[in-house]
Amino acid sequence: MFDTMTMVKAFGWFCGALLIYLLINWAGESLYAMDAGGHGEEGEEHTMGYAIEVADSGEGAEAEEDTGPAFEEVFASADAASGEKVFGKCKACHKLDGTDGTGPHLNGVVNRAIGGVAGFGYSDAMASHGGEWTPEALSEFLANPKGYMNGTKMSFAGLRKIEDRADVIAYLQSAQ
Ligand code: HEC
Repeated sequence: MFDTMTMVKAFGWFCGALLIYLLINWAGESLYAMDAGGHGEEGEEHTMGYAIEVADSGEGAEAEEDTGPAFEEVFASADAASGEKVFGKCKACHKLDGTDGTGPHLNGVVNRAIGGVAGFGYSDAMASHGGEWTPEALSEFLANPKGYMNGTKMSFAGLRKIEDRADVIAYLQSAQ
C-alpha cells in the first residue's frame, strides 16, 4: 500500500517534471526552429532568386552570342579551309567558276548586289530585295534562308552553327 502510494507519487512527480521538461524543450526548440526556419526560408528564397537570375542571364548571354554582335568576332577568326568543307553543302546548286546552276555563281558574292547576277532567274523576293551581300547579311541569310527572305527559291534548310556560316563566308570571300 505504502509502496504503491510512494510509487504513484513518484510517478506523478516524474510525469510533472517530464511534462515541464518537455514543455521547456518544445518551447526552446520551436523558438529555435522558427528562427532557423525563418532564415532557412529566406535563404531558400534567395537561392531560388539567384538561380532564376542566373538562368535568365545565361539565356540572355546565349541569345546575344547567337545574334549580331558576336558574328564579327567569329568572322574575324573564321577559317576558309573548313569553309571549303561547309561549301560541300552548297555545291549541288552553286559554282564558283562564274557559271550558274540551280543557283547563281557565288564567286565574288561577298559585297555583291543581292540578286545581282545578270541573266540568272531569281525569285521576285531576291530580285527586288536590294542591298548587297555583306558578310553579316550573308550570315543571317544562310542561318535561315526562307526566314530571312520570305519567298526565296533557295531550298536550303540553313547553317545553324555560326562558325560554319563564318567559315563558308570566309571561303566565299577567298573565291572572289
Ligand atoms: C538546293 C539548291 C541550293 C543549295 C543547296 C544552296 N543554294 Fe544558295 N541559292 C539557290 C537558289 C535557287 C538561289 C536563288 C534564290 C532566289 O532567287 O530566291 C540561291 C541564292 C543564293 C545566294 C544569293 C546569291 C545572289 O546572287 O544574290 C547566296 C549568297 C547563296 N545562295 C548561298 C548559298 C550557300 C552559301 C549555300 C550552302 C551553305 C547555298 N546557297 C546552298 C539554291 C541553293
